[in-house]
Amino acid sequence: MGKTYGSFPFGYELLDAGGSLKLERWGDIVTIRPELQAYFPPARPLSSWRQTAHWEFIPEKQASLNGTWKKLKPGAPAQWPFATDGFSVYLETSGNKHLGLFPEQNINWRWLSTELGPEKKFLNLFAYTGASSLAARTAGADVTHVDSVRAMIAKASANAELSGITGIRWAVEDAMKFVQRELRRGNSYDCIQMDPPAYGLGAKGEKWKLENLLPEMLDSGCQLLNRGGTLIVSTYSPKLGTEELNAAITGVQAGISFETSELWLKSTSGKALFYGLIARIRKES
Ligand SMILES: C[S@@+](CC[C@H](N)C(=O)[O-])C[C@H]1O[C@@H](n2cnc3c(N)ncnc32)[C@H](O)[C@@H]1O
Repeated sequence: MGKTYGSFPFGYELLDAGGSLKLERWGDIVTIRPELQAYFPPARPLSSWRQTAHWEFIPEKQASLNGTWKKLKPGAPAQWPFATDGFSVYLETSGNKHLGLFPEQNINWRWLSTELGPEKKFLNLFAYTGASSLAARTAGADVTHVDSVRAMIAKASANAELSGITGIRWAVEDAMKFVQRELRRGNSYDCIQMDPPAYGLGAKGEKWKLENLLPEMLDSGCQLLNRGGTLIVSTYSPKLGTEELNAAITGVQAGISFETSELWLKSTSGKALFYGLIARIRKES
């Protein structure tokens, strides 16, 4: 188990981190957001951050995802198009601290861009606003994008339109239900990516926790892979450490090899931030 330091996607910069906050640049717009992992002091004083930033997210309670965005510069846009690694997405200051893109995921966009081509089938589960779908489709792959939240599919499809990318298959469905249906239909994929939330809602509205469902998710995902295919897994859950992730992967029935790693980004000011775990599982040829 190693540490992987990711690079910044085009147009993005983690400028500084500390004091349970992070300072980020997205094109011309600079934001301040809460960051639990930034438990150390920042490199630059927070007062200087607030002179630079356009927006700051104020959580309604400590560690809450919900809250309000405070405008620090008059005229700062609440939504703006952001051109990154070969595609564009709309970023927006909405009711929660997420803006519409996870920049550390560019480690996966870059892998997909180099490993996938026109003859490859890619399935993006828990696909959010579509960054990995756009990267894979730009490489020419046949792309199926699954998210259970209709509003997310609408955002991903708006991002595809903004990027001038067509031909992605969109599915508003529970990820596991979709996988089980594809297995029954006899379909298979060359690459599957899953980035499940720590807590989720299943097909019948039932609550699940990632640490309970992950072994089954990984096993079914690997069944759905073609021989020689790759399952990419990202996890970000305090309940799921490297040992638990490795144990869940070792339980997969199919013949596989895998590597897991901690994902980190280093700010331009020199502060290292932890972004969860990443695994690549390869099904034997
Ligand atoms: C952490 S985000 C994924 C981020 C994405 N990989 C990226 O980098 O752009 C989790 C996504 O999973 C979706 N989701 C939550 N529960 C789901 C379920 N049961 N089935 C499918 N999607 C689900 C949410 O709507 C959200 O878009």
